[in-house]
Amino acid sequence: MHNPIEDSFGRQFKTLRVSLTSVCNMSCIYCVTPGIIQQAPKEKVLTTSEYLEAIQKIHQQVGLKTIRLTGGEPLLFNELPALIKGIVELGITDIKLTTNGLRLLAQLDSLVEAGLKSINISLDALDPGVFRSISKVSNIRSVLDAIDASIERGLEVKINTVVLKGVNDHQIVPLLEYASARNIPIRFLELMKMGYLHYNESDYFFSMDEIVERISSVTSVAKMKRAASNTTTYWQTSKGMVFGVIANESEPFCSDCNRLRLDSFGNIYGCISASEGIDIKEVTDEALTAALQKALAQKQDYFTGSEISMKYIGG
Ligand code: GTP
Ligand code: 5AD
Repeated sequence: MHNPIEDSFGRQFKTLRVSLTSVCNMSCIYCVTPGIIQQAPKEKVLTTSEYLEAIQKIHQQVGLKTIRLTGGEPLLFNELPALIKGIVELGITDIKLTTNGLRLLAQLDSLVEAGLKSINISLDALDPGVFRSISKVSNIRSVLDAIDASIERGLEVKINTVVLKGVNDHQIVPLLEYASARNIPIRFLELMKMGYLHYNESDYFFSMDEIVERISSVTSVAKMKRAASNTTTYWQTSKGMVFGVIANESEPFCSDCNRLRLDSFGNIYGCISASEGIDIKEVTDEALTAALQKALAQKQDYFTGSEISMKYIGG
């Protein structure tokens, strides 16, 4: 690589987030427009070999370090182990997954055997009624069992909790204790104005300061320095627990962002705030370089919001 694809802030693409499907088997209130029934897309979606071809071409140009597979719900992509094996064969071994965990238990062995290293599992509540009211799904047990099985299989496991004021903010401390008992990190996410929330001043917003204050009522906390290109700032508690906050609104972390996104229709995005993807299906190497440069120019200084729901663009 003679001319790295890099912007004036020194930002390059090193992590590729691949949204394997825009379909999800949950209908979380912050992601899916209330009252809308989710439908399979009408556009043609990429096959495993098309994903691998796209990843290989991008890798050749930017030298990827990490691939994170997301969605929608990535476990609904039925060739996931084959895709992971294919990515390992391309020479990228840092392969991670972000999932709601509902279908994880049955697929865990094949994913680990294929080369999966790390998994982020969404868990917005421990209380089954609160979990259902957010996700519209009842079987929290499947998610909890999948978390324990993932730890047992030796995967690096993190919990993601989107905090919604008046809905699950009372779950912050129980969830922190749950994660601590398993010795795994939990990250609390500030609500992002995406999809139908983009133009809505959300009554649900619960800030980083409010999250930290809530935890400070049960233990003293010390903030740590955010690691380079990381979404998360972590705190150490005097009880020995560690938690993180992904503070898209209160403390944006775009200045050293190294993420590129590929959606299930073959479009890339240089930023989660980008409202339009750039089609890279069947492009020449030169056209891909131009597309990557265009994607890099989409990067912002802070999260500006997007009309695209997280399930299309991939978390
Ligand atoms: P790890 O550091 O490897 O755990 O990755 P991650 O935190 O990026 O993974 P995950 O898929 O769990 O994403 C968690 C949340 O981080 C998302 O839901 C977003 O809120 C936020 N996030 C992820 N990528 C970006 C990004 O490129 N820009 C912004 N502003 N937020 C992002
Ligand atoms: N704001 C914050 N987090 C969101 N997620 C999905 N939509 C939003 C939103 N509007 C979370 C999921 C998952 C992660 C990838 O993104 O719950 O944990």
